[in-house]
Amino acid sequence: MAPLAQGLETGVPAIDEANDGLRFLLQHVFEPGVECRRGPNGKGVCDRLRCVRIEAIMRYVGRNFASQERVMTDSSYPEAGPHGEDHASLLNRLAIMRQAQVCADRDSGKVHDFIARWMTDHSRRCDAPFGRWAVTRRVLGPRV
Ligand SMILES: [Fe+2]
Repeated sequence: MAPLAQGLETGVPAIDEANDGLRFLLQHVFEPGVECRRGPNGKGVCDRLRCVRIEAIMRYVGRNFASQERVMTDSSYPEAGPHGEDHASLLNRLAIMRQAQVCADRDSGKVHDFIARWMTDHSRRCDAPFGRWAVTRRVLGPRV
């Protein structure tokens, strides 16, 4: 699996902590039996219709995106709209995968690498510019 890039800190604690959490999640959620109805050795009960592992990732990511978007809205960040749309694009893609019966156990590498690539790209394109804007305007204090 492709590693989630390091060194993408923005200086905005709400984003950096969420990205650290996502990195941790991606390192562990694909381990056998974690958030997976198929369970270790494929012996769990899975309806093969909706991947609960993808749903767990969506819940985690969705909560973090919502909190990031509150920070952007509360600080009147001018790019909050497009940034939020980019967040929605990941959730939409994951919802399509779930709907298409992608299995994050059988296809763990593909699901992991898609999310890791998206996060790396999003961090550079959206999170880093927001971090520079926020720190320059002292909207948010530096990480403590
Ligand atoms: Fe973001």
